[in-house]
Amino acid sequence: LKQPKFVNQLPNPLAPSYIYAPTGIDAASGLNLYEITAQKITHSAGLVDPVTGTALSFTAWAYGTANQPPVYPGRSFNLPSGTGVKVRFRNGLDPATDTYLPDVPVDQTLDWADPLNGGNPANAVYTGPVPLAAHQHGGDTESLSDGLPDAWSTFDNRRGRLFQDLYTYDNTQEATHLWYHDHAVGVTRLNVYMGLAGNYFLRDANEAALQLPAYPYEVPICIQDRTFLSTGELFYDAVDPANPLAPVPTHLPENFGNVILVNGVAWPVLDVEPRKYRLRVLNGSDSRVYDMTPSNGMPWVQIGSDLGLLNAPVAQQTLSVAPGERCDVILDFAGMAGQTIVIRNNAKAPYPSGAAVDPKTTGQIMAFRVSQPLSAIPDRPIPANLRPLLGPVPVLAAPVRTRKILLFEGTDTAARLQTMLGIVDATRPTLNGTLVYGDPITENPQVGDTEIWEFYNTTADAHPIHMHLVDFRILNRQKFSGTIAPKTNSDGSSGGVLDEASIKLLGRARAPGAEEAGKKDTAKMFPGEVTRVIANFKRPGEYVVHCHILSHEDHEMMRPYFVGPIPP
Ligand code: C2O
Ligand code: CU
Repeated sequence: LKQPKFVNQLPNPLAPSYIYAPTGIDAASGLNLYEITAQKITHSAGLVDPVTGTALSFTAWAYGTANQPPVYPGRSFNLPSGTGVKVRFRNGLDPATDTYLPDVPVDQTLDWADPLNGGNPANAVYTGPVPLAAHQHGGDTESLSDGLPDAWSTFDNRRGRLFQDLYTYDNTQEATHLWYHDHAVGVTRLNVYMGLAGNYFLRDANEAALQLPAYPYEVPICIQDRTFLSTGELFYDAVDPANPLAPVPTHLPENFGNVILVNGVAWPVLDVEPRKYRLRVLNGSDSRVYDMTPSNGMPWVQIGSDLGLLNAPVAQQTLSVAPGERCDVILDFAGMAGQTIVIRNNAKAPYPSGAAVDPKTTGQIMAFRVSQPLSAIPDRPIPANLRPLLGPVPVLAAPVRTRKILLFEGTDTAARLQTMLGIVDATRPTLNGTLVYGDPITENPQVGDTEIWEFYNTTADAHPIHMHLVDFRILNRQKFSGTIAPKTNSDGSSGGVLDEASIKLLGRARAPGAEEAGKKDTAKMFPGEVTRVIANFKRPGEYVVHCHILSHEDHEMMRPYFVGPIPP
């Protein structure tokens, strides 16, 4: 790949023109209204034809409004905490013109948001209509505004079970970095691959009091790996030559691209001043984890995790970010004038023990070139107490119950690897073990309950498990062993049961590092370990828990759960 690196400037999604302006006022509530439409665009990531050197661009899907054209990644919300907004996501992908690309194809054999309800022949290429469901990731949001997998709709008004036209985001959380992305069941990986994701920031008085670096010294960093055809169009691998039973196109266990996009630009550079920058890192990739190290060995000073500020800054050599996770970090370029610092990645794929990165491509993320004169805007120290007005990250105590969740790798009826969630609960013999997305609710906390969820990872890979609705804390991680028996799932796929009585906890439980001790909504769960999290379930209704490897959540590594009484 002869793509020149570190030549295209990194766009800043906090630039005033990149931030959503309201499109109106919602008459019923008096709240600001944002009417956002997903549309087809042609996007340039700064790629060039390796032979001719001419600039390439590709077909993408992007969010925009009537006044602000669609962009990749989507425009940013940047809102004060404490004031709700109304948001309407429109699906502007007209099936006559805006179809799934031939090289980013739908696998119709999955449980998916099928708008034609089986009306498209199983072996025909599915082009559209495209089902979309915009989800607010990390939001403390009512169920019907959450943008759940079954909340999808199409251009021609076909609708999933949980569709609601107008969303309410209460914005009651503290200052944080949420994001929004498509979540339609069984096609999330494709819809996000096409570009449907953006940042959502909340601001509060505590954050303001810290006087942290602000725009242009605050920069969202959304990292996504992609693969491109020689024409410049997106390519999503969907054939498995090794498996004669696999359909064509087929879902594959993971998707790893060989081009790194940051904020929609391939291997960009940011020209910086010799001062502190606040980077709001988001891993928006399908399957790839990033373990990132600056080439000059400078430390990352992490100040926040998924859902808010840490108690105190923590310096780290390597920043490890799995799909769905966010890290709020400071890099201080003071004294580095003239240097170019490359952010390197050395995370194996799959994580943590798959193939090594290619140092020429996936081993590099972006660069910072310390080339700009220092401006007169003060470069303040990072306060030692990051929560002077909020107080320390609240500790959740007194759980009313503990649930055991199973992470398992089996095979589906086409002999494909299928990672699944399930339960470890000998008292529920008919449900015990792996479950598919369509199986009945098994987890039903009551409103206000605090619970511990233990995730037993019996697979060979780490999975970034994400819970909707809640901000959880990681309690600890611990190695375990146990006996597994086979199970046939309700959809005919092969899963398993982890014998609850056989579980042996091995060694000590390890508390999370300081960088993981804040409010989280997504956490890495390592192979052979139980990861324990504690959460308070504040709102009633249906939500989901799933792996944020998008290829996993689209292929059954997702389960609904319900808070409060389940309606008959
Ligand atoms: Cu980022 Cu259920 O999603
Ligand atoms: Cu997974």
